[in-house]
Amino acid sequence: METLIKTLAEAWGPPGYEHHIRNLIRAEVAGAADEIAVDALGNLICRVGDGPRRVLISAHMDEIGLIVSHIDRQGYARFAGIGALFPATLLGARVRFENGVIGTIGVEHQYSKRRDLPDLAGFYIDISAGAEGNAPVGVGDPGAFVGEVLRRGERIIGKSLDNRLGCAVQIETLRRVKQIGTPHSVYFVFSVQEEVGARGAGPAAYGVEPHLALVVDVTSCGDQPHGKEMAIRLGGGPAIKMRDEGLIVPPAVRDLLIARAEEAGISYQLEVLTGGGTDGRTIQAARAGVPTGAISLPLRYVHTPSETADMGDVRAAVDLLAAVLVGEVAL
Ligand code: CO
Ligand code: ZN
Repeated sequence: METLIKTLAEAWGPPGYEHHIRNLIRAEVAGAADEIAVDALGNLICRVGDGPRRVLISAHMDEIGLIVSHIDRQGYARFAGIGALFPATLLGARVRFENGVIGTIGVEHQYSKRRDLPDLAGFYIDISAGAEGNAPVGVGDPGAFVGEVLRRGERIIGKSLDNRLGCAVQIETLRRVKQIGTPHSVYFVFSVQEEVGARGAGPAAYGVEPHLALVVDVTSCGDQPHGKEMAIRLGGGPAIKMRDEGLIVPPAVRDLLIARAEEAGISYQLEVLTGGGTDGRTIQAARAGVPTGAISLPLRYVHTPSETADMGDVRAAVDLLAAVLVGEVAL
């Protein structure tokens, strides 16, 4: 599974430009899915099983990125975020554009005594262009962080683990569910444009019209120095979501996930996330409404080039999701 995570996380796919990562995922599931479709927005929808109840599982395949807004007088690319870019993580970061050009992010007044960071307008991308107008990228070109996925024991470190980890969990689960069999029609959705407001998952859910939906995405950790205060620690097991900024999980869905985890002997955590949301926000509001829950993967340094997760949590998330999908889901 580490190889799969590495392949997915190192791939390029900012919001709205998911065609490369979608092709990679499609190739991974091609042998196992009963049906594969791509909808009008670019969501990849893979069905396994043909039972009467439809269960939708969603992981977003986009990653935070940026887009060139203009080339300044000195030949540096200025940019806007596509998704939440944090200024504290930008200086020195490397980005890659679709044509392969690598850029280095710099900041104005780097060596001044100021302690605060400017907003994105104070950052620029060095693309080795000068004032002569020979920039290798231009207005409207999207980019994303570039970086290798590395291991430190059970810890896995890389860009875009939000949410290529979730994609890897879904691919592994899809293969397992195909092997074991399921009484349901399970639709594994690899959604677009989550990082700009869960824009893809809602329309996907409208199309599938599920009886139950589960989101697989990352969550923050409460075990960093002076960090967020929350009851999630890295390596503590997958988190069963209770609440985030866009979703209150219905008690019946929460209880289903907890029951399956306990039956299977999977250690889990309970997640209440402040500041942040997932595809669940738009899925629950599709058509006449969809009971929606989420399984979250604890992640440190979210939205940086060195997001850090725990492989034990990732493997247990596959176990939990598979345990839910091969059993009854009557709510
Ligand atoms: Co994110
Ligand atoms: Zn995410």
